[in-house]
Amino acid sequence: MRFRGGLPLAVLTLTALAAFSQEPAPPQAVALTPPMGWNSWNYFHGNVTEQDVHGAADALVSTGMKDVGYVYVNIDDTWEGERDANGVLHTNSKFPDMKALADYVHSKGLKLGIYSSPGPKTCAGYAASLGHEQQDAELYASWGVDYLKYDLCSFRGAVMDAQAPNDKAEQMRAMEAAYTKMDKALEATGRPIVYSLCQYGWDAVWEWGPGVGANLWRTTGDIQPNWDRVYAILEEQAGLAKYAGPGHWNDPDMLEVGNGKLTLAENRSHFSMWAMLAAPLLAGNDLPHMKPEILGILTNRDVIAIDQDRLGREGTRAYADGEVEVWTRQLAGGAMAIAVLNAGSDRYSSHPFHLSLERLGMHGAQQAKNLWTGKEVTLTDDMPLEIASHDILLVRIATPK
Ligand code: GLA
Repeated sequence: MRFRGGLPLAVLTLTALAAFSQEPAPPQAVALTPPMGWNSWNYFHGNVTEQDVHGAADALVSTGMKDVGYVYVNIDDTWEGERDANGVLHTNSKFPDMKALADYVHSKGLKLGIYSSPGPKTCAGYAASLGHEQQDAELYASWGVDYLKYDLCSFRGAVMDAQAPNDKAEQMRAMEAAYTKMDKALEATGRPIVYSLCQYGWDAVWEWGPGVGANLWRTTGDIQPNWDRVYAILEEQAGLAKYAGPGHWNDPDMLEVGNGKLTLAENRSHFSMWAMLAAPLLAGNDLPHMKPEILGILTNRDVIAIDQDRLGREGTRAYADGEVEVWTRQLAGGAMAIAVLNAGSDRYSSHPFHLSLERLGMHGAQQAKNLWTGKEVTLTDDMPLEIASHDILLVRIATPK
């Protein structure tokens, strides 16, 4: 929600001026770094219950995930019930008391996220916000909601296709207007609420997302817990880096780390690349029952520090050589992260590869930290690297030369 760029200092100054002049305070800065937390959809889908959300909140605290930055507990689709005669939306029987749930989440030092659609129905067919935007925003604020994922879903058929069947430009204007409408509704509540757009990257949302107050916007269709889909999404991110920055982020979708058929190497690569992309880190797995090695990936502080780097400059693909991709990310203080991903499909062989530091603009040997082994390493130009299929080398160079 509506941190429209600029520096935190400017916000502080404005806040001080507002206090002096008795004007209302400006919107509070949110999502200055990519949001971190958990979302119910990727593991629970439409089966999520209040107990599952309690379990996730408890696990964020007991596993130490909260301590490394995971704070949002986001309920995705299927919490919604019916509207009453006054248009007030109620929860369904899976979520008997949303205010109590929000209080519980807040009591743990965490924040609560919720989900809706600008259409009449959500993607799973539950009641959504069309015609009730302000009422719903006020309801969320009254519960203490801190994050809204607003998913296009039925708005496309019910409004865009219905009202402008043959006019793509008009359809896109209607979509942008719907996202603006909810932004204004959230802003009017006075509560700082992270505003997450989900419309699968249509109409180059990265170009207009910040203008409708979005803090993040999905850049693709849905992720799935298999390598081909994770890698396909990664490939779609090339070229989008310039649109991301503090307060407004590209969202390649929630994490599948620990889900489905992903191997340990694939989970590590997925997490590493989302960090390189300055992506929101929203875990999507069954937190109370995850294996220690999955927790180890999700809580790697060095990798999280790449994602959360305060410069907020998204990584870019420097070059690809066959099926090996080299991505770099500029970090605060002149540091640099390098990811070397072996996207080759042969799972059983390693892939000797020669890393060109010259092509990355560096000269001579570089001192680096391998962020998955924790060891200091020396990189030399054209050095051979053995990276197993679907695995990754991720390093941080404090002072690149
Ligand atoms: C869409 C979104 C998903 C999820 C589901 C819920 O598919 O892209 O992330 O929110 O809807 O129905």
